[in-house]
Amino acid sequence: MTNILELRNVTKQFGGLVAVNDVTTDIEEGSIVGLIGPNGAGKTTLFNMIANYFHPTSGTIHYKGNDITNVKVDKMAKLGIARTFQVTRPFGDMSIIDNIMVGGYLGTNNTKDVRKKAEEIYEYVAMTCNPLQVASEVTTVDRKKLEVGRALATAPDLLLLDEVMAGCNPQEKLELVECARKIRESGVTIIIIEHDIKTIMSCSDKIIMLDRGSKLVEGLPQEVGNDPRAISAYLGEDYVHVEG
Ligand SMILES: Nc1ncnc2c1ncn2[C@@H]1O[C@H](COP(=O)(O)OP(=O)(O)O)[C@@H](O)[C@H]1O
Ligand SMILES: [Mg+2]
Repeated sequence: MTNILELRNVTKQFGGLVAVNDVTTDIEEGSIVGLIGPNGAGKTTLFNMIANYFHPTSGTIHYKGNDITNVKVDKMAKLGIARTFQVTRPFGDMSIIDNIMVGGYLGTNNTKDVRKKAEEIYEYVAMTCNPLQVASEVTTVDRKKLEVGRALATAPDLLLLDEVMAGCNPQEKLELVECARKIRESGVTIIIIEHDIKTIMSCSDKIIMLDRGSKLVEGLPQEVGNDPRAISAYLGEDYVHVEG
């Protein structure tokens, strides 16, 4: 078993606030890992450091055995790390296909190839809107799928999905889970931030739970689901929320 990503004592401070506190973990190649925890726990901040939107205050991040802790953000796509944003940011006045194409120019300048690949990705993520529709006009679930498609266009090995299922109904969440499974089967490692505990538990090989910046528990979904610390810090309320 190979680790695609290794975090060691990763900490991020914003002034006096410790947003991520001394997080150490390994992400196994080819797995789906669920990153959970209350709002403000530091999940997105952790993604931002893995994707090098900003660098840790201390600690190291290794990807495929190489230290990427302080790599510039514009090098990340070439390295094979792609992410989606919690708040989707399509180019609203561009078509779905043109949006997906943006990421495709990384490996080639051939527009015909890039368009063909974008059309494949459009089919792959199973969007229901017309591919020539303007991005600002599509439904939430299609906007989420577009976000995944734009990330996939860069041909990543590691995909970071930040709350892609938020705002989607149960059926749409299932579609996104199906999509994540397909992506994993194609060899891509995925880390997903998600609040719907049942959904994330059902599709993850491992769960990491953050609480106030620190890693509180980590393990198989059923282990984390039964962990008293996880239940009292987060799962308790959320299970009630999900059931209700
Ligand atoms: N760029 C930033 N500057 C200052 N504080 C930030 C920044 N990004 C996040 N934070 C703070 O860090 C903490 C963790 O935020 P975040 O990682 O977004 O949490 P989560 O994604 O788990 O909800 C919060 O208290 C948030 O306000
Ligand atoms: Mg967040």
